[in-house]
Amino acid sequence: MKNDYIKLAKKHGTPLFILDHQKLRENFRTFKKNLPNVQAYYAVKANSNQEIIKTLFKEGASFDVASYNEFIQVHDQIENYRRKDREFFIWDKIIFSNTIKDKDTLRKIKKYKPLVTYDNADEIQKIKKYCPTAGLVLRLKVPDTGSQVEMSSKFGAEPSDAMELINSAHDSGLTVEGLSFHVGSQCTNFDNYTNALQITSQIFNDCRKKGYETKIVDIGGGFPVPYDSLSPKFEQLAQVINSETKRGFPEDVELIAEPGRFMVATTAVLISEIIGKARRDGKIFYHINDGVYHTFSGIVYDHWMPNFKAFKRGKTEVCAVVGPTCDSFDKISVSEQLPGNLQIGDLFLTENIGAYSIASSTKFNGFDGAKILHINQ
Ligand SMILES: Cc1ncc(COP(=O)(O)O)c(C=O)c1O
Repeated sequence: MKNDYIKLAKKHGTPLFILDHQKLRENFRTFKKNLPNVQAYYAVKANSNQEIIKTLFKEGASFDVASYNEFIQVHDQIENYRRKDREFFIWDKIIFSNTIKDKDTLRKIKKYKPLVTYDNADEIQKIKKYCPTAGLVLRLKVPDTGSQVEMSSKFGAEPSDAMELINSAHDSGLTVEGLSFHVGSQCTNFDNYTNALQITSQIFNDCRKKGYETKIVDIGGGFPVPYDSLSPKFEQLAQVINSETKRGFPEDVELIAEPGRFMVATTAVLISEIIGKARRDGKIFYHINDGVYHTFSGIVYDHWMPNFKAFKRGKTEVCAVVGPTCDSFDKISVSEQLPGNLQIGDLFLTENIGAYSIASSTKFNGFDGAKILHINQ
């Protein structure tokens, strides 16, 4: 494989982001196989590359979008559908999971009768005014202890406020179709899911007792990726989810999920190139042609821990790997165990970099970022 990567880097240049669509299909199928009763809405946010959307669309995925532009990216796939089929797809297979939507977005999506999340009273009024056709899903605040990225400090209604928010939505003539939560991204603590499902089950069953036609339970994202040998197994988590959902909800519940990272993290590798080498305060600094403003942006936004493998052997020492910009913040890692004998022009391999990487890459300082190469499409 290493030789293949070197060949591709020679042919296409670096930095090179290699995205494997066979792996993407495998991840989608693994998700479906282990959670057969859960409709998978790919969270476009994790990697909004159009080719990813295309492949997952062909696999039969549904989609979780956060903005009108993400919606249009998915809509592009169904442009040629007959109007009725298009409307059905949008109604059945797209969720607007951003609990706060601006009025323009709401106005624009009104004609599609979208499924949208909310978590506060002001949003109910806004949806009522600008998009009364929407079906609502109330997002709950749930524990996200130990997750790589927490969510609960910005999103989710307190469970104790849930019934009031559901009643007010109904009182204003809107329909609350279900409940959702997000346990935090790269959730390695399965108790978060168990607790969230228990909280949700109580509210769901209270709604049914009140006569509301609540039917959807959206278990969000957070599904862990095997970044290292310590990462817990998705298959084990799936067993927990399957048994807790069976226990906590009636048979006719519609389970949905919004996996982002799980679908794409393991689909991509990055080949970067050493463009400079300096010893600073005794430590080797490898300056490479990609950095935290570009494909390694996940270090900032996603609390991601990078990984580097050299293609050449040599005596290793603790080195720094830094990006190409004129900004001292652009340090990818200051403690990588790497061969000290690498030279300008040598390459690094970074694995599992498919999620929250190119999605938040900028063009800061005039650097374009990595070229994207699609394989096994
Ligand atoms: C509302 C929502 N759903 C789903 C996701 C995807 O989460 P993950 O990548 O952890 O699967 C996110 C991202 O954080 C999100 O904000």
